[in-house]
Amino acid sequence: MAAQLIDGNALAKSIRAEIGERAAALTARGHQPGLAVILVGDDPASQVYVKHKVNDCAGAGIRSVLETYPADYAEAALLARIAALNADPTIHGILVQMPLPRHINPHRVIEAISVAKDVDGFSTLSAGELMTGLPGFRPCTPYGCMKLIETTGIDLRGKHAVVIGRSNTVGKPMALLLLQANATVSICHSGTRDIGALTREADVVVAAVGKRNVLTAAMVKPGAVVIDVGMNRNDDGKLCGDVDFAGVSQVAGWITPVPGGVGPMTRAMLLVNTLESAERAAAR
Ligand code: GUN
Repeated sequence: MAAQLIDGNALAKSIRAEIGERAAALTARGHQPGLAVILVGDDPASQVYVKHKVNDCAGAGIRSVLETYPADYAEAALLARIAALNADPTIHGILVQMPLPRHINPHRVIEAISVAKDVDGFSTLSAGELMTGLPGFRPCTPYGCMKLIETTGIDLRGKHAVVIGRSNTVGKPMALLLLQANATVSICHSGTRDIGALTREADVVVAAVGKRNVLTAAMVKPGAVVIDVGMNRNDDGKLCGDVDFAGVSQVAGWITPVPGGVGPMTRAMLLVNTLESAERAAAR
């Protein structure tokens, strides 16, 4: 393998340790950080994600409050819970696990969360803060990808970064964060005529489509940084990303594995956002 592995587990571990120290300092001053996690329905994957988030909080000295509601929970009731949590001074972050049951409008729910507690960074106000370069909460996955890229020591100024995927939660905020770091950014998507023509020119490629083998060795410039956001299953049921890891790792300079790359960093950045929210509240 030519590429150096970017170890998301190790980076997430060191971030969690730092967050633990800052959380302890806040707690000693009477301001323990608090995260509310809301799960509606019984989606098995969501149940696992939520459990991880609660465990991560416990490990970092952040108080978490898990609220679970049945799949037929009324949207109005959920909005009322969010309003109560917005007003609760012991809660610094509110996370409503997605996807929500079909009868609940996710946009209405996300917009109901106070921007000061929007630790997912999903609301239009948080998106606007990112767009304009104002301080605010950055969505955890692209924020974590930036931290992974930072570990390579590469200065993004003037580099060509290509993002494959244009979701509101990953692709678009990823492109804006790379732009903020002074990269020249291209966004590829299902309408892009020749993705390989762009990625072959890229110093950094972030693949965030949710489809296997979106990026193959022939599409990568030698030495490039490759960040794989994908979470898919191969034919044997094994976890794999959007990148053909076996092939691309022969060409790239740095690459994130799946699992053990972006996933743990997404979870770590939720702790970062929650801690920062608590620090801001304590400073007010
Ligand atoms: N569902 C899958 N990933 C996420 C996430 O990062 N935040 C929320 N709220 N729901 C999710």
